[in-house]
Amino acid sequence: MDTLENQANRLYDQQKYPEALDIYLSLLKKYPKAEKYSMYCGNCFDAIGQTGEAARYYKKASKLNPVSPNALLALANLYYQKEDYANAEKFARMVLHKFNNDTSALLILGNCAYCKADFETALSFYEKVCAINPSSYIGLINMANTSFDLGKYVKAIDFAFKALEIYPASVDAYIIAGNSYMELSKTEKAEKNLLKALNFKSDNPWIYNSLSRLYQKAEDWKNALNFGWKAVLFAGDAADDQHINFGYLLYECIDEKKSDLALEYARKWLEAFEKNKLVAYMANSILEDKKIKTAETEYLVRIFDAFATDFDETLHGLEYLVPQHIAEMVQKHHKKEFFKRTNCLDLGCGTGLCAQMIKDIIGWSAITGVDLSSKMLEKARQKGVYSHLEQTEIVNFLNTTDKTYQLVVAGDVLTYFGDLKPLFEGVAKVLSLGGLFVFSICENNLNKDDYCITPAARFVHSTNYILKQLKKRGYNKLDMLYKPLRNEGDKVVYGYIFAAQKVMIVEK
Ligand SMILES: C[S@@+](CC[C@H](N)C(=O)[O-])C[C@H]1O[C@@H](n2cnc3c(N)ncnc32)[C@H](O)[C@@H]1O
Repeated sequence: MDTLENQANRLYDQQKYPEALDIYLSLLKKYPKAEKYSMYCGNCFDAIGQTGEAARYYKKASKLNPVSPNALLALANLYYQKEDYANAEKFARMVLHKFNNDTSALLILGNCAYCKADFETALSFYEKVCAINPSSYIGLINMANTSFDLGKYVKAIDFAFKALEIYPASVDAYIIAGNSYMELSKTEKAEKNLLKALNFKSDNPWIYNSLSRLYQKAEDWKNALNFGWKAVLFAGDAADDQHINFGYLLYECIDEKKSDLALEYARKWLEAFEKNKLVAYMANSILEDKKIKTAETEYLVRIFDAFATDFDETLHGLEYLVPQHIAEMVQKHHKKEFFKRTNCLDLGCGTGLCAQMIKDIIGWSAITGVDLSSKMLEKARQKGVYSHLEQTEIVNFLNTTDKTYQLVVAGDVLTYFGDLKPLFEGVAKVLSLGGLFVFSICENNLNKDDYCITPAARFVHSTNYILKQLKKRGYNKLDMLYKPLRNEGDKVVYGYIFAAQKVMIVEK
């Protein structure tokens, strides 16, 4: 007989959740003590995105059957999916309190720790899972992946091979083994494992990406570009991370004097993704299109949103010194005694590295940060050094604000502007007379132009151009220091740090 429950289960299996939910709700009304209907209602609400209701029904199910871990596990999973790790951990621990060997709860705790980048803790939970169940594929593959993140490549390979014993078609295991061998500079083994992964999943862009990096390391540029190209083709238009990787690959290829090949791919890339603004900007920079006068706002948002999570660690690794140089200039030239208090404006504030360095120097002050990228601003907010943060384009901000500032800083930002006239005019508009403008530029040692775009999609400026622009817009140059800014590969990138004082009001 086709019972109501069967009908609901069938609809549920067919993923017709709203229809299934109606029946489960009516069944629950009739049998209010039936834990299973409460669980099903929770599952349906979860599937249609009503997580608050889902949690309510799971909690009810847990009360109805306190000896089952299912409802608590569903709650832990629900919060984990919502990235609410505190609640996910709370419910996973409640499961472990009653069932201390529950591997699902241990996995959730491991995953929460992993998502918080606490890899050591994550590993300890996955270890417990494997101690309880040595043939847990998910436990082993998570151990492999987390060991890789911890830089324990030999261990990562070991766990990946153990995972392969249980699930011989594991693409993830082959990728982790391949990437680990690559880190250990065992090129042949890396290639073998990555090609195996490709056999199982020939449309996975990350495998092509890994192979591209492997060939790049071996200076086999032809294969590096071929596989990098396949990575972007399989990833498609929306995969910013793959396009950014490909753009840098082309740039590095040019840097290694393999320009013809890089230019050929840059043209192909532009043609295949002609409507993609990130691609257009990066590819045209590689092709050194003289028409580019400033960076596209959409490009900036997308690239810095993609960088935000790891920005501080990455730049620390590149020995990024601009905030320090800016702070030294502020220390040297900012005359606190001229002003009642300092209102400071941090243009292109990013994650707040400059404000962090100057906040103690300028004393009683308010710092406003302006940036296009919401993800960079989120990181800046977490540092707690800004009195105000605004997500907007810099020149737009300068032209529309009615506030004045006694100090304006811009660390590693002018490199996203070619023509500096609008920015210098805008800063002059908001800066108090006697106020200080401190900024960095990358030096143009490529040609005699005032500025030019480089294949790295950044502008470089000539110092003569900067000096002329400062004079024209009513500033007096106080200082101009040639400094190392950061590393790029094994090269040091140099540039200038300028300190200028507004001494005149110039009519536009
Ligand atoms: C390389 S980061 C530097 C961040 C920070 N000043 C530092 O030194 O760490 C450049 C920042 O400038 C922002 N930016 C570049 N051009 C911009 C524009 N026209 N309007 C607003 N923000 C911009 C980017 O979004 C990015 O966060």
